[in-house]
Amino acid sequence: MKHKKIIKILVILCILTVLYFYNLNINLSIILNISTKQFELKTDSEVTYPVTLSGEFVLNNLTICPRDRYVTALVLVHTAAQHFERRRNIRSTYGSKKLFLPTEVRVVFLVGIVQNLKIQEKIQEEHTQYGDIIQGQFIDTYHNLTNKGIMGFRWILNYCNNVDYVIKVDDDVIFDMWRFLDNLEAFNSTRSMFCTPIYDGQIFRDGKWTVPESQFVGVTNWPWTYCQGFVVIMTGEVIRELFHAAHVTPFLWIDDVYLFGYLPFQTGNITIRPMPKMLQLEPNPEGGLCLSVAGSECPMVAVGVEEKMFKFHWKMILLRNNKTFS
Ligand SMILES: *[C@@H]1O[C@H](CO)[C@@H](O)[C@H](O)[C@H]1NC(C)=O
Ligand SMILES: *[C@@H]1O[C@H](CO)[C@@H](O)[C@H](O)[C@H]1NC(C)=O
Ligand SMILES: *[C@@H]1O[C@H](CO)[C@@H](O)[C@H](O)[C@H]1NC(C)=O
Ligand SMILES: *[C@@H]1O[C@H](CO)[C@@H](O)[C@H](O)[C@H]1NC(C)=O
Ligand SMILES: *[C@@H]1O[C@H](CO)[C@@H](O)[C@H](O)[C@H]1NC(C)=O
Ligand SMILES: *[C@@H]1O[C@H](CO)[C@@H](O)[C@H](O)[C@H]1NC(C)=O
Repeated sequence: MKHKKIIKILVILCILTVLYFYNLNINLSIILNISTKQFELKTDSEVTYPVTLSGEFVLNNLTICPRDRYVTALVLVHTAAQHFERRRNIRSTYGSKKLFLPTEVRVVFLVGIVQNLKIQEKIQEEHTQYGDIIQGQFIDTYHNLTNKGIMGFRWILNYCNNVDYVIKVDDDVIFDMWRFLDNLEAFNSTRSMFCTPIYDGQIFRDGKWTVPESQFVGVTNWPWTYCQGFVVIMTGEVIRELFHAAHVTPFLWIDDVYLFGYLPFQTGNITIRPMPKMLQLEPNPEGGLCLSVAGSECPMVAVGVEEKMFKFHWKMILLRNNKTFS
């Protein structure tokens, strides 16, 4: 009687051990394959890809980047169409290419279509004045940010292909371009995305970042690492492969997870790396506080900032880079 019990326990232990090692050996691509397959089985007719893989630009400027030499940093700003003030702030600060010469820095603002004609007119006027708006044929909404990002990649391939670094930012970010340019050696890896990586991020089935139940069936966490999207620094050569990957990667509206996770994962040879030590990213107000209080000792290179604090934080950035106020 006692022996039988012991044998039973041993058998169970053996099975558990086998299962344990088997689990360890399941690699991500198999999980991904399974989930992609389920996705396709369940919603065959609904599998879609980004709408901006092709199509005309409504507003564009073909001569932003020089053809004959490299742009060191191209800033791609994901901006909401009606955020005129934020774009003004960026243009007059780290988006002003004059400040960094002879290093070539460029900024473009990515927007979609708006149905309000008055706003559209204002955007057209803004573009006439500054020539830095790229407008694509998709409706400018929060759920279309993945489409906005893909449009940005396509624009780079067509009109700004000689670029060392592409810096994706949201329009509520202030970026210390001097600190970045002074520390380029810290970004000396190819085929990389530098950002705040999110490992094993949760898939939400309700709330702000809801993923439909029909996508990634039975999966509770993203099977790839992705970047927190408010600032992502990419080496220029990855853009082409990300864009190609988007042709075979089913659309997912959560832009951070798609653009800076799913796509690099699909290519299999782009690495997501944490930011260097003295070039950290902080989306929350602590970032601004750090700039004000710690100056050049503050380890941030970019922080999230409210419109009304933008100029103030810019002064802090001038100060810590020994630039005079103008
Ligand atoms: C995914 O599945 C397809 C078809 O089932 C197979 O051809 C491919 O090799 C698989 N990919 C990986 C990375 O396992
Ligand atoms: C395009 O951008 C360049 C460089 O910023 C600028 O000189 C030019 O005026 C712009 N062109 C148009 C059509 O906006
Ligand atoms: C995204 O843009 C496309 C193309 O204009 C449009 O059909 C779709 O309704 C938009 N999606 C959202 C969620 O706004
Ligand atoms: C980056 O590293 C490579 C190889 O180590 C070296 O040849 C190159 O000069 C470095 N570039 C910079 C900007 O430090
Ligand atoms: C990276 O992977 C893609 C396919 O995903 C391939 O086309 C490309 O040649 C690879 N690049 C390098 C440098 O290995
Ligand atoms: C600013 O000036 C101080 C004092 O001369 C110097 O120690 C510091 O390295 C300078 N900072 C930058 C970013 O040039």
